[in-house]
Amino acid sequence: MPGRVFITRLIPEPGPSLVGAAADSLEMFPEDRSLSPDDLRNAVQGRDAVLCLLTDTIDASILEAAKGCKVFANMAVGYNNIDVVTAKRLGIMVTNTPGVLTDCTADLTWSLILGVARRVAEGDREMRAGRFMGWGPLYMLGGDVTGRTLGLIGPGRIATAVARRAVGFEMPLLYHGRRDNPELDRLGAKRVEFDALLRKSDFVSVHTPLSPETRHMISDRALSLMKPTAYLINTARGPVVDEKALVRALQSKQIAGAGLDVYEDEPAMAPGLAECETALILPHLGSATHATRAAMSRIAAENVVAILNGQAPLNPVF
Ligand code: DGY
Repeated sequence: MPGRVFITRLIPEPGPSLVGAAADSLEMFPEDRSLSPDDLRNAVQGRDAVLCLLTDTIDASILEAAKGCKVFANMAVGYNNIDVVTAKRLGIMVTNTPGVLTDCTADLTWSLILGVARRVAEGDREMRAGRFMGWGPLYMLGGDVTGRTLGLIGPGRIATAVARRAVGFEMPLLYHGRRDNPELDRLGAKRVEFDALLRKSDFVSVHTPLSPETRHMISDRALSLMKPTAYLINTARGPVVDEKALVRALQSKQIAGAGLDVYEDEPAMAPGLAECETALILPHLGSATHATRAAMSRIAAENVVAILNGQAPLNPVF
């Protein structure tokens, strides 16, 4: 049963070794960059399994070119880069890597919460530019974190891990989602309507997957409901936030700031965002730790190996 596997980009071990030991042949694009759509289309032809990344757009044309392939194993928890409707129609399985990046993404969310409220990156810029002239009673004042209300949109695993950490900061918790989350309820969180969460939260943290329903969920209207002292945090997917609307809200001081790890059109940013001093902007680092990337590589590879061996995948997305 084992077959021919393609890995679309240089990834860390142990994925390549695990797949290499199980497959008849393994080819990995040996560079740390995405293939062009044409090169990707050529490269997936004649493969039994493809291990891909969130930076690969796996649209209908790529899936058609891969006809006969059994699986596209995404090395990411999000899979909005894959046209799952077409994959399903063509009988190609899609898998992801949930669970292993929960804690480090929650940790990074907290870096953004603390960093944006306490102006950590701005402070670093002050020091490096030689602008620090000594302690001052009015110098670089920021927002409080302890005891302030944290609102979580999309109450899944990562939001729950963020909430667990918030208990240490004595933060009242709100969440908005389609269903109750018993673990959040146990932490004392209250499930509320979207508008109520926006109105009451001091930190609004986005953890929802990207879908047609969540695209631009944080719109001009949503931002206008937030307190002028509140911060928006996004470690989920860029297009959940209307980035141009966010820039307007930051420029007009409609909200106090934003901590972002993801962008609508990565790696680009909306015009004006880079100039917003109240935005703390990171380059999609949510899962970027050595151990987490190794775990993601292992799980993506285990999904490939299971399917090549005729077993059920560990993490099917449909
Ligand atoms: C994911 O796995 O979806 C993350 O965005 C990667 O950092």
